[in-house]
Amino acid sequence: MTTTAAQPGTWTGTWLEAAREIGLEPGGPVNIGWHCSDRICRMGLGAKRALLWEDAEGRSRTLTFDDLRLLTNTFAAFVRGLGVGPGERVCLFLDRVPELYIGFLGILKTGAVAQPLFSAFGEDSLHVRLQDAETAAIVTQRKHLGKVRRIREKLPHLRRIVVVDGAGAPGPGEVHLDLFGAAPVQEFAVHPTTADSPSVLHYTSGTTGQPKGAQHVHGSLPAQYLTSKRVLDLRPEDVYWCNADPGWVTGTSYGIIGPWVNGATQAVLDSGFNTDRWYDFVAKHRITVWYSAPTAIRLLMREGGEAARRRDLSCLRHLCSVGEPLNAEAVVWSERIFGRPFLDTYWQTETGCIVITNLPGMKVKPGSMGKAFPGIEATVLDMNSLRPLDRPGAVGLIALRPGWPSLIRTYRNKPDAYASKFRNGWYLTGDRSSIDEDGYFWFVGRDDDVINTGGHLVGPFEIESALLEHPAVAESAAVSKPDPVNMEVVKVFVTLKPGYEPSDDLELEIMNRIRRKLSPLAMPQEIQFVDSLPKTRSGKIMRRVLRAKEWNEPVGDLSSLMND
Ligand code: PRX
Repeated sequence: MTTTAAQPGTWTGTWLEAAREIGLEPGGPVNIGWHCSDRICRMGLGAKRALLWEDAEGRSRTLTFDDLRLLTNTFAAFVRGLGVGPGERVCLFLDRVPELYIGFLGILKTGAVAQPLFSAFGEDSLHVRLQDAETAAIVTQRKHLGKVRRIREKLPHLRRIVVVDGAGAPGPGEVHLDLFGAAPVQEFAVHPTTADSPSVLHYTSGTTGQPKGAQHVHGSLPAQYLTSKRVLDLRPEDVYWCNADPGWVTGTSYGIIGPWVNGATQAVLDSGFNTDRWYDFVAKHRITVWYSAPTAIRLLMREGGEAARRRDLSCLRHLCSVGEPLNAEAVVWSERIFGRPFLDTYWQTETGCIVITNLPGMKVKPGSMGKAFPGIEATVLDMNSLRPLDRPGAVGLIALRPGWPSLIRTYRNKPDAYASKFRNGWYLTGDRSSIDEDGYFWFVGRDDDVINTGGHLVGPFEIESALLEHPAVAESAAVSKPDPVNMEVVKVFVTLKPGYEPSDDLELEIMNRIRRKLSPLAMPQEIQFVDSLPKTRSGKIMRRVLRAKEWNEPVGDLSSLMND
């Protein structure tokens, strides 16, 4: 057998023990929304603080687990009242406002699927993802409503637009929800979801085609519970901060589900990066556990340790990082400044939970991602035979044995792409690494053309498609180029149609167009106008040739190159 799809949601081994710790039994009901709120209240923690929220303007809100229970009930009743049924997709297109966190759990309580999208997405990025998901309703804010309205006509499945800070008369199909002003719903009949019921839909970029909808299930819960407990080391007295946006999987698995299913207090800062504001936030809320990312750490490093020394940050007890390679220097720097290293963790949208990691107490080898999480079987496979390499130091493809609870169950509308991720009984991550004699993984790079900018994956296809809509662009190729802070940024090579000449104005216009239509992350930092692009004999653009030049790496086998 060469292909193994994920197993259905029965928990075994470590995961079964974890499931039982949170009152789950195989075959029984499981609902992430209920487990992260009602169950915590039933454990007697209703009065405990669940959310400490603050934004850049100084607005703030504190919610207890009992508030969370009532508000998620209220949100759920509202969604059900809109006629949105179980399994239908409801998009959350919001800044990191409390409604995002509450809405996420509320949607899950109804059995509908939560589809969070980064609020900085432009209309093209939004459109592609809502169209593919056949999203039934979108929850947004006034400031983002314009983007939704502009694509509305092209989305026949979109029945409702919910505005959480609406004013004046709502437009057609629009409805206002004043969540904090509404009468709290005391009891809500949570939809009887099971381990295999769809829960969260995250879009993730690949090399070919538009982003794929990675479909998670409610049965993932023991995975997020256990990894948050063991890796993030969440304890009852902790105040936890995950600075990821729930538009990405870190912001849901570890910015909503993981902490709350553990009954932990979490703080949320709705603001972009700002050294002083971040450190003030840590000091003010006495943050004890911080889950961050290498780009943020590099930014902090750049600003120097002085800002950290000016404050009392002794509250920080445990630091973790995810999303990109964590340089050894960043680990050493954090040890010097915070008195403890950032511990690297590795996982993906598809895995749903941390799979390779440094555990508290484990010897840190700066620059390594750590070892397989207990309960996860991980290896590296030979690139050709796809058999495990058992030589320490040999570079291969990181592969995981399917069977842990939070592996996605499909890519929406793309079952073949999903099936292709499984070979010889392994799930292929698409990343390359070696393993040393102690079982530590050393990340080498991705095995595809996807650009990882500041921890966020950007698909070249999405950028190139948007570029093609520009009247001057004949062909283009988007690749990564090195960057000291974001590790990688987007660079595009463009050939122009006859009658167009390269110019600084054109370059700026193209950059801005991508920023507006896709997102600030996808915006190319450099555009190089060229006469032709390297192609294979079959006419496929060879991004890897362009990329290798940017990184000063050997180009590799060029035998299939057509125009050399
Ligand atoms: O290439 C790996 C990189 O980010 C990819 C997953 O991105 P995404 O699905 O957006 O999920 C990000 C948050 C889990 C991986 O395939 N990546 C993630 N963590 C690390 C990493 N690369 C190096 N070191 C890491 N710790």
